[in-house]
Amino acid sequence: MEHNDKLVIEGLAGRRELAGRIPVKGAKNAALKALAAGLLFRDSVHLTKVPEIDDVSRMVELLEDLGVGVERDGDVYQLQTDKIKHSSICPKISAHLRASVVLAGPLLARTGRVTFPHPGGCVIGKRPIDFFLENFAKMGATVKNGDAAYELIAGGGKLKGADLFFRLASVTGTETFMMAGVLAEGETIIRNAAMEPEIVSLGEFLNQCGAQIAGLGTPTITIQGGELLTGAGQTYETIADRIEAGSFIILGALAGRDLTVTDFDPSLLESLLHSLRLAGVQMEVGVDSVRIVGAQPALTALEIKTHEYPGFPTDLQAPMAVFLTQTVGQSYIFETIFEGRLNYLETLERMGAKARIIDVHRAFIDGPTPLAGKEVESPDLRAGLAYVLAGIIASGRTVVHNIHYIDRGYESIDQRLAKVGVNIKRINR
Ligand code: EPU
Repeated sequence: MEHNDKLVIEGLAGRRELAGRIPVKGAKNAALKALAAGLLFRDSVHLTKVPEIDDVSRMVELLEDLGVGVERDGDVYQLQTDKIKHSSICPKISAHLRASVVLAGPLLARTGRVTFPHPGGCVIGKRPIDFFLENFAKMGATVKNGDAAYELIAGGGKLKGADLFFRLASVTGTETFMMAGVLAEGETIIRNAAMEPEIVSLGEFLNQCGAQIAGLGTPTITIQGGELLTGAGQTYETIADRIEAGSFIILGALAGRDLTVTDFDPSLLESLLHSLRLAGVQMEVGVDSVRIVGAQPALTALEIKTHEYPGFPTDLQAPMAVFLTQTVGQSYIFETIFEGRLNYLETLERMGAKARIIDVHRAFIDGPTPLAGKEVESPDLRAGLAYVLAGIIASGRTVVHNIHYIDRGYESIDQRLAKVGVNIKRINR
């Protein structure tokens, strides 16, 4: 949703003052897929810990448009999924949400057809959907590529299980075909599957409700197709957002006096914790929390190479770059997943960072450099959050515009940061 809110941050000018506890909310990239999975159910689905973010509202609108009944009580959602009215994913809403593409799998498998536009979402690279079209065809669908939309029709009205290979491990690709496989005829194998914890959590829930999915969390997932699932007596509890947790831990590493990030599983963030430890950040890792107690006086520069899970998450690359502006020496960032996710560095340079973009995948950052507050525009969700972090450690005032991007993925970011001592206000201009 476009809106005109902006965030105004009075920076700490390098002082380590943030203290207290920040609880992590449910994961955007888990909740969105669990909502989409509602289409696999004959009756209803109960979901809890769904974050209150714009992307969830968009996904709910898409489901309602398809005929799903949605009742909400705070972070608890009840989907009524017995009647699906049509098989056309609303183009207007999809234009704002990459995750809308995952609806295509269960919808095509359930109704034998689906129409959808090229999905939108954050502009962080080309973001093609060739894997989807190619693998649906392998499952027996004919694919028509019209001017405005793709139309897929399952041969004989039913998708057939198939042996699928992904050239690159794809998160939404794995989720889409895992869901399609649940209602397809026979066995579907996904090779070079993505192993992200959000996928495992979705697959485990579907298994609880009658699906037969094996190999979750490994590069080969095998699904035995069957009937529509039943959600009676079952609850999907959204796993905590490891990317949000990681963003707050980086904030603690930059400006924490004694900051504890709580209510998430630190074992899912080993790549980040390992890097921060190497740099000299002092942390106490608990069962469901990380407490940042300080850092050595001169933090060490790092090499960060993004990688599919369990490697360093691309979604933490921009927040981590802010950290690297404060380490001593030359850091190197290699963004291997997307080819448009380094442009935000130009804005960090305006704030005082010394960055050099080598090509669309690689950059150097020299540090440490003090940052100064500026007026900035969020280009996407994670870079927007990186600007918030930069504003917090900078001297003076930072105004972040286009925060509808940040609201897509972080619930009430201003209120939650204010609670641990950040001087931040949301203003409607
Ligand atoms: N790719 C193709 N063809 C396809 C699909 C993907 O070439 O048909 C390529 C992509 O261009 C990329 C690579 O495969 O180079 C992997 O991309 P992936 O498909 O895994 O990305 P995604 O599923 O579109 C999800 C998250 C992203 C997150 C990435 C990587 C959702 C809704 N989005 O995107 O989250 O960055 O996985 O972990 O789950 C975010 O939350 O800010 C965000 C962008």
